[in-house]
This record gives sequence, C-alpha cells and structure tokens, in this order.
Amino acid sequence: MKLAVYPGSFDPVTNGHIDILERTSKLFDKIVVAVIHNVSKQALFTPQERADLIRESTKHLPNIEVECFSGLLADYVSGKHACAIIRGLRTVIDFEYEMQMAMWNRVLIPNLETIFVMSDSKYTFVSSSGVKEAALLGGNVSSLVPEVVERGLLAKLTIIRQNKEG
Ligand code: PNS
Repeated sequence: MKLAVYPGSFDPVTNGHIDILERTSKLFDKIVVAVIHNVSKQALFTPQERADLIRESTKHLPNIEVECFSGLLADYVSGKHACAIIRGLRTVIDFEYEMQMAMWNRVLIPNLETIFVMSDSKYTFVSSSGVKEAALLGGNVSSLVPEVVERGLLAKLTIIRQNKEG
C-alpha cells in the first residue's frame, strides 16, 4: 500500500490545503494528514480542533486519515511506513524553506521522497496566517476556507471579543 504523510500546522486548514489533498489523494492509496502539536508555537486552534476541522473538510475523500503528532517528522513518517511526504508549494517564496526541510528529511530517512504539489493558482496567496489575521479583524474569508473552518474562526472571534469585554 502506498501511504503518504501530509504534515503541517493547519492552523486552520484552508481551501489551498484541501486542493492539495484532492490532487494527491488520487496518487496514493492512503494519506495521513499529520497535524503538528508544537508546544513552543502559539496556535489559534488546539491540535485536536485543527484535526477535527480537517476531518470535517475531507469527508468527500475516502482515503484520508488525520492524526496529531509531535517531535521529529522523520520519526513519525518512519513509524507509518510511508513512502512520501507531501508538501504544497504556492510561490517561489516557499521553495527555499521547503527545500531545506526536504533535505533534512532525506538525511534522516534516505529512501523517503518529498513530493511537492502546486495548488490551484487561485490559492497562491492563501495562508493560514493570512486567513486568521483577516478573519479575526472581521474580514470575510468564506471563499478561502471550508465552511466548518469559517464557523470555527467566527467562534474564536466571539471568544476573543468576550474576553476583551470581560
Ligand atoms: O504547516 P507548516 O507550519 O509549514 O509545517 C511545518 C512542519 C510541521 C512540516 C515542520 O515544522 C516539521 O516537520 N516539524 C517537525 C520537526 C522536524 O521534523 N523538523 C525537520 C528537521 S529539522
């Protein structure tokens, strides 16, 4: 079975990520979306919330599983017996960081491939951080994220506003 891991922060998942999954789910028997639990990085959504949002948003893709992980990606990928890591590329700005990561992971697991997939051109500017910033300032991001994520962002915005008032 050809299994690939699609790792990331996914804080939160965007339509760009979903586009990558729709493209790559045709290439592998199974894809495990691995949501990093990075204690040193402040996230808007908890790892569990992020994973649930991805599960909800990929119900139309039967060969996708979602898990949380922490630590070294290479260890996680080895444990899964995956043959590839999937990463999305938007513009050339992504390239340098992605190349370094791919090289690190190749040093740690020599026979592992990192597969770069380009999302649809309409998502080249879409990032989780951009979506968060716009949504938390009251912007409409409905064309950029799955509906369930939009609802999640609105819920976070309400909590933030209540905390400010209280
Ligand atoms: O969505 P992101 O934030 O760009 O994802 C980055 C991620 C989670 C793929 C990357 O930070 C990662 O692999 N972290 C785990 C630690 C690791 O294995 N680093 C690479 C070797 S230095």
